[in-house]
Amino acid sequence: MMAKSLKGLRGFLIDAPERGRLRGVRDGAVLIEDGVLVAVGPFDEVRRSPGAEYVKWQHSPEAVLIPGLIDLHAHLPQYPVVARAEESLLPWLQRIALPAEKEFNAAAARAQAPHFYEALARNGTTCAMLHAATYEQSCDVAFEAAERSGMRIILGKVMMDEAGCGGLSPREKLPLSLARSERLCRKWHGCDGGRIEYAFSPRFAVGCSEELLREAALLARKFDAYVQTSLSESCGGTGAVYEACGLLGERTVLAHCVHPDDEEVRLLAVARVAVAHSPTADLFLNSGIMPLDRLLDAGLRVGLASDVAGGPELNLWQVMRSTIESQKARSFYEKEVRVPTAAEVFHLATLGGAGALGKGSLIGTFDVGKDADIVAFDLAQALSCGGRGNMHCDLSPEEVVTLLVYRGGPAAVIETYVRGVSIYRAPAPQLL
Ligand code: GUN
Repeated sequence: MMAKSLKGLRGFLIDAPERGRLRGVRDGAVLIEDGVLVAVGPFDEVRRSPGAEYVKWQHSPEAVLIPGLIDLHAHLPQYPVVARAEESLLPWLQRIALPAEKEFNAAAARAQAPHFYEALARNGTTCAMLHAATYEQSCDVAFEAAERSGMRIILGKVMMDEAGCGGLSPREKLPLSLARSERLCRKWHGCDGGRIEYAFSPRFAVGCSEELLREAALLARKFDAYVQTSLSESCGGTGAVYEACGLLGERTVLAHCVHPDDEEVRLLAVARVAVAHSPTADLFLNSGIMPLDRLLDAGLRVGLASDVAGGPELNLWQVMRSTIESQKARSFYEKEVRVPTAAEVFHLATLGGAGALGKGSLIGTFDVGKDADIVAFDLAQALSCGGRGNMHCDLSPEEVVTLLVYRGGPAAVIETYVRGVSIYRAPAPQLL
């Protein structure tokens, strides 16, 4: 019988089923049926799976295959203004980020969103949780582009009804904000079998009335959608407000959490929220360094985030590197600080992110039954001198992941798949 929907990828399989433990299969393979992994293991075994005799294997033992990276927090309209520095968050919001969002009308979304999703895929990211701007229509257009992109996207229109600290704008009227958000959620949440989802997105406590926070929480619960917002980015203390408004729960992803005190950490843990750690942004905006070990020790689910344009790039390898380096910097001044290894930050960027989204049984590792969200890397592109004189086939999974954490990026991505569908393929190398 002809195996119609089987697809096979071959390469050095590396994933992180537990924090700090990598699993590697040299010359391994995955077999995919209707977007789902049906066999995983050594190539010589997987190719003997029923129906696999007809499979045309993609890639080679020289490729490195990893589960798609997961970016838990970024702002789509801010991509054009990455790497514009300011002394701290509020001046940066006022001078850089909010003017960019103001420009994000439907036409801008039509022009920018497809490039943004392609940039994510080019960086090896297969799943992202994103903010649009406050406008309903441009968010709708960004959803349409997400649907076409093949990416796994959670998106929401920013909600913001108060001028707040420093006279932040643009603001909207509360009933309008709620109605627009609800319409978008009804239209998009759960589309394409859950590949596209909605996140109610109150900007942060400073720009939102308590009534908005309360109503956003109720809507998220009503539709079983996500909540995404920021906490303790430049100062601590708003966790209790979120708590009182019912905004904290298992479907809530909190960005930053740089300055939580013990009481706030306890509050977050009890509420079982997830945390999006974005060290490149927290350093860029001079916000501080998140106490990663304290949040993990409290049992919080933590994943990684680029926080573009607070963070200057979508490359999650840079975020992994920054996670290690920022905790290392803390450890020079605080004796007890645990510095994560490359294997640990890789776990945060894959299964950690999946767990933060409640998708740990769907994506994040190479286990049979999970969706085939996969990235193929050309390790030679991360090695010095393009790998000449460097036999990378001898590297351990830990060495490969370390190399990617310190030198990985779009140049090393060969192909990106979501549910087994290729959504990005690097241009063929120029023949010299
Ligand atoms: N807090 C509120 N809005 C924003 C934003 O757009 N970026 C960052 N980094 N923090 C925020």
